[in-house]
Amino acid sequence: MYNSKIIGLGHYVPDNVVTNDDLSKLMDTSDEWIQERTGIKERRHVDPKGDDTTTSMGVKAAKVAIERAKIDKDDIDFIVFATLSPDYYFPGPGVLVQRDLGLKTVGAIDVRNQCSGFVYGLSVADQYIKSGMYKNVLVIGSEVHSKGLDMTTRGRGVSVIFGDGAGAAIVSREEDNSKGILSTHLHSQGQFAEELALLAPGMGGRWVNDILAENNPDDTSYMPVMNGQLVFKNAVVRFSEVIMEGLTKNELTPEDIDMLVPHQANLRISQFIQKKFGLSNDQVYNNIMKYGNTTAASIPIALTEAWENGKVNKGDLVVLAAFGSGFTWGSVIMRWS
Ligand code: UT7
Repeated sequence: MYNSKIIGLGHYVPDNVVTNDDLSKLMDTSDEWIQERTGIKERRHVDPKGDDTTTSMGVKAAKVAIERAKIDKDDIDFIVFATLSPDYYFPGPGVLVQRDLGLKTVGAIDVRNQCSGFVYGLSVADQYIKSGMYKNVLVIGSEVHSKGLDMTTRGRGVSVIFGDGAGAAIVSREEDNSKGILSTHLHSQGQFAEELALLAPGMGGRWVNDILAENNPDDTSYMPVMNGQLVFKNAVVRFSEVIMEGLTKNELTPEDIDMLVPHQANLRISQFIQKKFGLSNDQVYNNIMKYGNTTAASIPIALTEAWENGKVNKGDLVVLAAFGSGFTWGSVIMRWS
């Protein structure tokens, strides 16, 4: 058995900055409300007429990660792509990355676990590497939310929160079992599936033909829905649980954490977890202020920035944790090497 470790990280966000004031021109909201409830000041949206797609942004992030990992792209054995906003309903973006990066005909898998997608993706990569089947796995989280949000007052409970962007990691073999990814922990609770969801095109039996036949301009089934307060309440409990689960599994305690990179769902959620575990501002990396919630991309973007800023160093205990639609949640416990 091997361990796996992250040897290269990269991210890409579109240039187009959308401030809270920009949104308040489109809907009944305010900078004050958004900052107070979420911590978000601005987010990035792809240029609606531009070329950025979920796949192309993922590819850009991956190129940076590959360069920093100092590997040749032909050394990549497998692709894991996490997103809730794929370019196509099918095929998923993993195969598009194989094509657009010009990789050998390696396998490509798409992960559909929304905000927990990158944690799930890392877990998949970790298992393939642990078993010895693959040596280098490219894991990408990328989202284009802006094109799928309801930018009217009707959608304000959701649309002010989400932003576009991508992050990528090269996960590679670590021979020393005391280093790299020590464990991953994954959970789901489908009883809450419809509490944070986009129901089209499946919609419990109502498919595309039915929607076209109805031709109803007020049909909101293409818009994401979220029971914000229920998600919030579950998030703080599950984040805490799954971080403790990972620490306990490795006979560690919250005092051992050097850097916690939580999924950037809401600054208030991150602050709650920080307080609960007695961590300082330097021990938790947050960038939701700049990017909003980028779902599967949020952890790899934040981890890349933390690494770029020298906040993640050899020997550090790095903890990743996520919660989101499904509900799904998970954690990764790593000894950075
Ligand atoms: O990535 C994981 C998935 N997402 C999350 O983790 C999100 C978790 N939930 C949250 O972050 C929070 O619940 C939100 C930020 C989404 C909402 O904050 P809240 O404090 O739970 O507000 P609320 O939904 O209870 O809404 C309070 C009021 C309502 O008005 P009334 O009924 O009190 O008159 C909303 O209609 O705020 C109103 N509201 C807004 N007002 C201005 C909702 N969205 C907005 C908005 N601007 N954008």
